[in-house]
Amino acid sequence: MRFAVLLYVLFGGTAAVKRSDFKTCAQSGFCGRQRAFGELATLEKSSNNESEDSSRYLLLTSTLKIDAVGGTVGAQILDSLSNARFQLDVTLLRSDIAETSSDAPTLRTRVFELNPLHASPFDVANADNLALVSPLPPAQNFSIVHQSPSLLSIRLANNIILTITAKPFSWSIARDNVDVVSFNNRHFFNYEYQRAKSQEKSDDPPVAVKQDDGDESGADPLVPPSKPKELSEREKLIEKLKKDVQKDMWEESFSGKQDSKPRGPTSIGFDIEFPGFSHIYGLPQHASSYFLKPTRGENAPYSEPYRLYNFDVFEYELDNPMALYGSVPFLLAHKKSNSVLGGESVGLLWVNAAEMWVDVEKTVQGTSTHWMAEAGILDLLIFLGPTPKDVSNQMTHLTGRSALPQHFSIGYHQSRWNYIDEQDVHDVDVKFDEFDIPYDVLWLDIEHTDGKRYFTWDKVKFAHPKVMQDELAVKGRKMVSIVDPHIKSDDGYLVSKKATELGLWVKNKDGNHFDGWCWPGTSHWIDYLNPEGRKFWAEQFKYSNYEGSTKNLYTWNDMNEPSVFNGPEITMQKDNLHFGGYEHREVHNIYGTLLHRSTAEGHLLRSDNTDRPFVLSRAFFIGTQRYGAIWTGDNTASWDHLAISIPMLLTIGVSGVTFCGADVGGFFGNPDNELLVRWYQIGSLQPFFRAHAHIDAKRREPWLAGEPYTGLMRESVRRRYRIMPYLYTLFWEANQNGVPVMRPLMYEFPGDEATYAAEDAFMVGDTLLVHPVVQPDVSTVQVYLPPSSNWYDYDTFAPVKSGHSTVATPLEKVPIFIRGGTIIPRRDRIRRAVNLSLRDPYTFIIALDTQQKAHGQIYTDDGHSYEYTRGAYIHARFAYSNGVLSATTVRGNGRDAGLGSRVERIVLVGLKSGGVKSVVVEGSGKRLEFKSEGGVVVVKDPKVIVGEEWKIVVS
Ligand code: NOJ
Repeated sequence: MRFAVLLYVLFGGTAAVKRSDFKTCAQSGFCGRQRAFGELATLEKSSNNESEDSSRYLLLTSTLKIDAVGGTVGAQILDSLSNARFQLDVTLLRSDIAETSSDAPTLRTRVFELNPLHASPFDVANADNLALVSPLPPAQNFSIVHQSPSLLSIRLANNIILTITAKPFSWSIARDNVDVVSFNNRHFFNYEYQRAKSQEKSDDPPVAVKQDDGDESGADPLVPPSKPKELSEREKLIEKLKKDVQKDMWEESFSGKQDSKPRGPTSIGFDIEFPGFSHIYGLPQHASSYFLKPTRGENAPYSEPYRLYNFDVFEYELDNPMALYGSVPFLLAHKKSNSVLGGESVGLLWVNAAEMWVDVEKTVQGTSTHWMAEAGILDLLIFLGPTPKDVSNQMTHLTGRSALPQHFSIGYHQSRWNYIDEQDVHDVDVKFDEFDIPYDVLWLDIEHTDGKRYFTWDKVKFAHPKVMQDELAVKGRKMVSIVDPHIKSDDGYLVSKKATELGLWVKNKDGNHFDGWCWPGTSHWIDYLNPEGRKFWAEQFKYSNYEGSTKNLYTWNDMNEPSVFNGPEITMQKDNLHFGGYEHREVHNIYGTLLHRSTAEGHLLRSDNTDRPFVLSRAFFIGTQRYGAIWTGDNTASWDHLAISIPMLLTIGVSGVTFCGADVGGFFGNPDNELLVRWYQIGSLQPFFRAHAHIDAKRREPWLAGEPYTGLMRESVRRRYRIMPYLYTLFWEANQNGVPVMRPLMYEFPGDEATYAAEDAFMVGDTLLVHPVVQPDVSTVQVYLPPSSNWYDYDTFAPVKSGHSTVATPLEKVPIFIRGGTIIPRRDRIRRAVNLSLRDPYTFIIALDTQQKAHGQIYTDDGHSYEYTRGAYIHARFAYSNGVLSATTVRGNGRDAGLGSRVERIVLVGLKSGGVKSVVVEGSGKRLEFKSEGGVVVVKDPKVIVGEEWKIVVS
């Protein structure tokens, strides 16, 4: 076991990340080759022969098949140097999506090798509903604008035109006659065809690079030179790069671990440019900024590309493009424009589960990216927005909408490694009530098991698991137990024995069961690529299999990158084999998500499809949002880790995975009270809210800090519980249209350039702007409130000037602002757990805009079942205008299902008129009591019901 891992296990991760445990691009064979290829292509393009086409890939126009009605274009692409052939399939996917302002279709372009020598590569999108939803939306017809032997232009939508060029193969998309995205403009396209090892030397000229022919010495050409000609710097560089593009094609090793690579080089690289785009975002997971910093070009802050390869990285470094636990090869580009909204976006997703690296470069033209993956196929989805919200909608239309979570799961979660025994669990639970702090879920980490055998309980410390869960359940609370994917190799352990008998393990390169090290010692891993493996795993959650589990026990899937302590880069060997004959290198990034999915399926199985799953996963990938929540892994109890939780979660959210959070308090180390309080203030406004701590960290449950800290943590938790109806509505929105719950400011203000790089503030939905304190000892923060809206302080309802301002931040202050023109549904009565408040009355905060208008909505259902799919929900819209508050367009029959609660208070914020004389319920004529002070009118007990249509007139 490596030293760093040993430290982690024995001393609880007191070491910082050991960079040398992880490869650089140059150490990852294909990344080095593809980067060198890009550099060669750049040199070639900048040479004197610029006008000549240097890319070796040609679209064979004789093979072109256009089906304008069916919405597809097909053709072959020739690698003119190797003669390898590839198939290009272009499809225009219809975007008849609900709740979008745009009808822009999504473009899909796939390129894959025809007749590969060794094996068909893993095609993640086409395999069993793995990364994309199935069936995909139908194709949409298009019209041809222009066709010639070298060029094909087709109209994708009214103002959007795709142009495919044959020589070299490239394409670009223009919106309103301006290019917004282009492929292979820089000639980085390099598809490593499959080949036999012996051919490597003879067959493999790297790239058609023109040499300088001219002799710059000025010597007489007829006189033979006396000494060999010295190479110019440029020539030397070319020589070096030509070698680099052929490096590590077959076996390679890292840190003494060999990758046998029996299929040789299979990587794919290409450039994508976003002309005119100033900002790009996405590519989680990295401990880095929200807007992606350049990795190439002059003054680039990073020298390594962003790496996407799911890893267990302990004590990860900040401000770094190193890979972490999850990967989504998604990118959002945004720029200021003259459109109605003042800004426009495009999005891009490479549906590929192999190791990937992405370079980002600022160019004169805009932003340029270089994508490199080790295997798979080229399967690109291009989302044409034009708003960031449209891109989220279009992307999740194909990768799947976020599952509607259970109510309890958006409450507060209390975790640590570990709650020691049943008595400990009981004591912690009781303390929450004693200190009047609501919470919903208590978590058990790996020590609760019988020797790290998941689905079992420590016989002494957790001898009565059902009684323990029942005790929580009577208070409306739940429990989560950890179930990791490494299964102890032990024939006395039923899960292990059965999986061995059924042959469900991942295999090593020789076809034997793969074994590696993790918490329990020697372990095996189920092959979730195998439908039988997934089924087997799901069945383990049946009450009859998971003894001691009850319907109130949910699941935490950790270490599912997968983490293998003695593996290369602390994960699995790339030449391991999966179901279908695929190598681990092809499927690595989806592995953890397939576990996540199987666990969610297990929850469905055990409840006969009646109870919504709750599963937290550490690894994530395209489509994770369909299966549950994720968190950002092992952060540290430090201010900079608190600060970076914002950009990290914003990035993950815009990449589709909205139900995400960071360990509150920080996993490693011991936060002081100030840091802990500030972390609760922020964490309570992020989508997944869980306090968690390392086994060696001191106890830090909220009551231990003492006053004023305990009270401030209590208030943070209670603040979240009050806005639960609003939060749940936001999760429902994400379920409908993919727009994240926690949003970057530029999602709400796409035309406001001051928001493009904002990552010290975030929006909760479209209503609340949070600018939290992420530094010690600060008495003020500088806040930016976009001037296109008017704003109010969340605590006092006092109007706050928009633009830049300084806000005082004593420890009790969380700078939260309400956007004028919005309505927030709240439940101000605090219960012990979310589910106990479902019949409680509502308070509506109506924050008026400058036109004295506001609108909002609420979605509610039973919060745990699928009855909503049969109409048992309420979706109501509210509008305030001309002194009338109306509840309209009520949908769902939740009222009949007993879901409608009354409204007990209405708070009108920002009323300009001289004074309110009466507040009356229209129809009944009932006059309501109210109090009016400083532009805030509080209307008492209007007794109207959410789920019915009504009007209240304020005059
Ligand atoms: C690593 C996880 O990231 C952490 O949250 C957990 O406490 C430990 N594994 C032990 O299970």
